[in-house]
Amino acid sequence: MRRMIIGVTIAAIALIALAFALGDGDGDGSGALPAGDPVRGQTLFEQRCAACHGTDAEGTTQGPPLVHPFYRPGHHADGAFLIAVRRGVTPHHWNFGPMPAIPDLSEQAIADITRYVRGLQEAAGIR
Ligand code: HEC
Repeated sequence: MRRMIIGVTIAAIALIALAFALGDGDGDGSGALPAGDPVRGQTLFEQRCAACHGTDAEGTTQGPPLVHPFYRPGHHADGAFLIAVRRGVTPHHWNFGPMPAIPDLSEQAIADITRYVRGLQEAAGIR
């Protein structure tokens, strides 16, 4: 009997941990992004990111290209976009200075932007 209770307790704790791991209810960027729409993403990117990252994410004098091997999916997973936009970026790859946080973009908007940038990367052979 005691063994069964312990077993059930462990199963319950595992389920709760799994629910936390899969969800991102706290919005801290630890969860996966929803599916993104690259067409909406392009518009949002041009409005909110292009001033520094360039219209086709090729970079400007204010910020680096995102179509760059540094930002390939295997090195900067989609979650890195969420974290960059939510928290801003302390310079570590370049000498452009910090990227400010852009707090008013929804997780869906960030997913759309990320999908757009991934499309540009794929077209450039960065994958
Ligand atoms: C005011 C200029 C500016 C704007 C606007 C801006 N960025 Fe950045 N961003 C930067 C700079 C500068 C860096 C590079 C920091 C470094 O040296 O690593 C950067 C880096 C990044 C990175 C890499 C983060 C990492 O983990 O290394 C991502 C992803 C990113 N930006 C996405 C975006 C997106 C998406 C938008 C629009 C919603 C955006 N940025 C808007 C300046 C900007």
